[in-house]
Amino acid sequence: MGAEELQTRAACVSDARDMHELHARAVDAFCRGHYSDDQVKALLTGRTAEGYLPAIERDEMFVMESNGRMVGFGHASRGEVQALFVDPDWAGRGVGSALLEHALRLAARDHEGPIQLKSTLNAVGFYRTHGFVEIEPTELKKHGVTLPFVLMEQTRPVAVAAYESMAEAYAAAIEENPRSIYYERPALVDLLPDVSGRRVLDAGCGPGAMVEWFLGQGADVVGVDASANMLKLAEQRVGDAAVLHLADLEQPMPFLADSSFDVVLSSGTLGYVRDWLALFQEFSRVLRPGGCAVFSVGHPCSEYTLNETDDYFSTELRDYTWRGLGDPIVVPCYRRPLEHMIDPMVRAGFSIEQMVEAVPTKEFAEVNPDEYAQLMRRPRVLCVRARKQADAT
Ligand SMILES: C[S@@+](CC[C@H](N)C(=O)[O-])C[C@H]1O[C@@H](n2cnc3c(N)ncnc32)[C@H](O)[C@@H]1O
Repeated sequence: MGAEELQTRAACVSDARDMHELHARAVDAFCRGHYSDDQVKALLTGRTAEGYLPAIERDEMFVMESNGRMVGFGHASRGEVQALFVDPDWAGRGVGSALLEHALRLAARDHEGPIQLKSTLNAVGFYRTHGFVEIEPTELKKHGVTLPFVLMEQTRPVAVAAYESMAEAYAAAIEENPRSIYYERPALVDLLPDVSGRRVLDAGCGPGAMVEWFLGQGADVVGVDASANMLKLAEQRVGDAAVLHLADLEQPMPFLADSSFDVVLSSGTLGYVRDWLALFQEFSRVLRPGGCAVFSVGHPCSEYTLNETDDYFSTELRDYTWRGLGDPIVVPCYRRPLEHMIDPMVRAGFSIEQMVEAVPTKEFAEVNPDEYAQLMRRPRVLCVRARKQADAT
């Protein structure tokens, strides 16, 4: 059973009793060994089913079910994951990751900074694998007993605040933007293998245009994006025909099984990820041997000249000001030299099969002849198909 067969919904008053019972079993199963008997007792003493009602009414609690049975629940408020509980019978089956993903969506509502949580000692490793770092030890006093926790924080990806704020405008514009439909997308699609009946990961799926395209080609699609607003738009577009995850590509994606995809596609997103070695190692892990990664990224040549940097050889975070989607908006993005693109891919076990310096299609000339002429002379987008070598793990 994978996390993809789990359903999440807002908690309601009638869930409180089951939550209470699951909470007690989870603390008992997971906290022993990390806390003394007295501490475990203090963690549970004084709790009642009614205690959940105020948070349920504030719409901060949610439950996860499998076939109508509650297998976990969580609580998140603005900027903070308050608590997650997994039914011990369901440990190790992806419920924790799925709960955390949902909690992060709630915590990110109307919130721009890092997301914080106070982890019980047993859960620190779990949160670490989901990109949280330890800030400091902290404690809570309950019934005269001191309970140690660890304050942890997940930094938000560099461009996510920008994408959160412009998601709707981006989604509306992308369908008509010649740079997308007559330039970047056709170049990328040309590099894709036949995806019918294949499993595809869209890494940085945004509002889901390519997710929809892949579905139309008969592929089984999973989309990942770090912007909850973008995912909402993707959901509106494709419903539950594709599985969509809120996740940061800077972090491992433990909710995706090893060797489970034929193709990883990433359109216009990898510039927002600093560590390409870790990223391509993760792509390699989730791809089947012989599977491929196809992506587009800002061309290193134009990124270099546009940025007026005097150090071509470093990877640097630059601010790009986007105009044309309402108020100007600053979108931070990494500019990197060509070597910093190729080397991590090769070290992660990929061989580069094809590289294309995109040129616009003829239709572009009809809608914007000046920009067409420019793009025919100056590269702006580099597209790559890299294949996971059959002997790569
Ligand atoms: C230029 S948009 C491309 C969206 C989509 N692929 C398309 O072609 O329309 C970049 C996307 O990357 C997402 N993104 C930025 N940083 C990310 C990260 N670290 N992890 C996952 N997604 C990220 C943004 O939220 C946004 O949806």
